[in-house]
Amino acid sequence: MTRVVAVNGGLGDPSSTRLLVDRIAEAVGARLGGGAKVEIIDLREAAVDIARSMTTGFASGAARDGVDAVESADALIVASPVFNASYSGLFKSFFDLVDVEAMAGKPVLIGATGGSPRHSMVLDHAMRPLFSYLRSVVVPTAIYAAAEDWAPTSGDTATLSGRIDRAAGELVALLGVPAPESPAPVVDKVERRQMATEAAGIANFARLLGNSTPAG
Ligand SMILES: Cc1cc2nc3c(=O)[nH]c(=O)nc-3n(C[C@H](O)[C@H](O)[C@H](O)COP(=O)(O)O)c2cc1C
Repeated sequence: MTRVVAVNGGLGDPSSTRLLVDRIAEAVGARLGGGAKVEIIDLREAAVDIARSMTTGFASGAARDGVDAVESADALIVASPVFNASYSGLFKSFFDLVDVEAMAGKPVLIGATGGSPRHSMVLDHAMRPLFSYLRSVVVPTAIYAAAEDWAPTSGDTATLSGRIDRAAGELVALLGVPAPESPAPVVDKVERRQMATEAAGIANFARLLGNSTPAG
């Protein structure tokens, strides 16, 4: 079974980063179908263990569980809130505990949330270089959600959904998992009648062509 682990670096409760992670996890899960599991880790729950692990030099407690889940995952979804124009310190500390070798070649989808839309470049200035250093394969589409993107009337809501969908498609493509079988298209009565008429027309046309062919 394909395992995707989503790391939420949000500290708030409720957390807008968790909201973003949920949307991305849902999109990735839908594309992977029943043969995959998407698991979400909230770093705020492991904050104390992450800090303690930084001082001891090895991951323990909830930090260890998170690191193990990330290292053994087939692909990652990672998202951090923007704090002073970068990812949060907790997010960085967590990935400082992860083994670089375990991250090499792993497909990663990156996301961030911020109060201001002007800090969306955090994804390309900070987040992408971090995962490039770890030799992970970062999908081309990164997802940034500013406060205004969540408003139902915002013009950007559609853009956010579109970006989530595109990035999810890119991550699943990297996993090389065949898309789940799509349900048979629903054909209503009118459509079926139209199709029958068209088929009859094609058959007639073929007959006419056959009749006009000179006998050889
Ligand atoms: C200490 C701190 C620094 C922040 N710095 C920025 C910033 O530089 N740019 C920005 O757009 N938002 C900034 N924010 C706002 C957060 O990025 C935003 O509220 C985020 O969505 C919170 O995520 P969460 O709800 O998942 O914790 C900052 C918030 C805090 C608490």
